[in-house]
Amino acid sequence: MPIIKFLYYEKKILKNLIINVKSGQTILDVALSNNISMEHACEKSCACSTCHCIIKKGFNSLSKITEKEEDLLDKAWGLNQFSRLGCQAKIGKENIEVEIPIYTINHSKKY
Ligand code: FES
Repeated sequence: MPIIKFLYYEKKILKNLIINVKSGQTILDVALSNNISMEHACEKSCACSTCHCIIKKGFNSLSKITEKEEDLLDKAWGLNQFSRLGCQAKIGKENIEVEIPIYTINHSKKY
């Protein structure tokens, strides 16, 4: 059973949480079921990029990125080569570390 370590911000303070997960779950679903606030403005339909996250470890163990996800990622705040959309990236068999950036493109969110 893989482990996911989340690095996330709560009131601008960096926090972390380590969780045992089942392979095949999305990063977003794991975050939400563990009370980590992760944006998901399109309700997981790969249409908004607010669920953008950065994979600090285990990037290659995630499900393959689709062309649609790649295109949408271009709109994400703080994009880098290890960026994924939390609603699309499914956890494989290896441990991963995921940072949820402090900002998203969701302009209605209050920080
Ligand atoms: Fe909108 Fe993931 S929730 S792209």
